[in-house]
Amino acid sequence: MNHIAIAIDGPSGAGKSTLARMVARHFGYIYVDTGALYRTVGLYVLRRGADTRDPDAVGALLPEIDVEMRYDDEGVQRMYLNGEDVSDLIRTPEVSMAASDVSALPAVRGFLMDTQRNMAKKYDVVMDGRDIGTVVLPDARVKIFLTASARERARRRWRELRDRGVEAEFEDVLRDIELRDRNDSSRDIAPLRPAEDSVMCDTTEHDLEESFELIRSIIGERV
Ligand code: DC
Repeated sequence: MNHIAIAIDGPSGAGKSTLARMVARHFGYIYVDTGALYRTVGLYVLRRGADTRDPDAVGALLPEIDVEMRYDDEGVQRMYLNGEDVSDLIRTPEVSMAASDVSALPAVRGFLMDTQRNMAKKYDVVMDGRDIGTVVLPDARVKIFLTASARERARRRWRELRDRGVEAEFEDVLRDIELRDRNDSSRDIAPLRPAEDSVMCDTTEHDLEESFELIRSIIGERV
């Protein structure tokens, strides 16, 4: 049986994960956060003290890594690194940067491909990432490219960190976002870009509810 896949791609801080989670709940699909896979690999490489940009060093570590995605009773995705629940540990700015670095390496992208595609084979999914509509699930039923200005995304990320009790300077958050944008968009393999058949959604001027309504109606028309 063919399952329905909704691909939501876009830069960091555009609200992908929050909106994808809301949309998944609304339609009764499984939410798959693919950034968490890259973060988990990034965490392992950091722990081993290797250079996150070095293809040989990172490639040599991949056979040691078992990345697993599990869902708790409330349907929340948890990430396991060699059996350890690292779901919270992968949310630091340091791991964000490491994830961005390792995600530029072809070996890492290949390593995580099956995990992503297998989810879409087994379930109806809302999958968010950078290359879901272009590379991972080119036949996705609906492709949405979600974006917002860098300043607005930094503002949202800064608030989110503050709400979690993480001290951060706004200018540092903005710089990180701009650096990751450059990293994610300029890499040779699977760069961040909208699929030709994606629907562009700019949420700079929209709050969460408005953005959700927009996406819900786009998906509702197609499934
Ligand atoms: O969505 P996120 O911030 O958790 O993603 C972390 C990093 O992983 C991000 O810098 C880009 C990378 N990534 C990717 O290259 N491809 C994906 N499908 C998801 C994330």
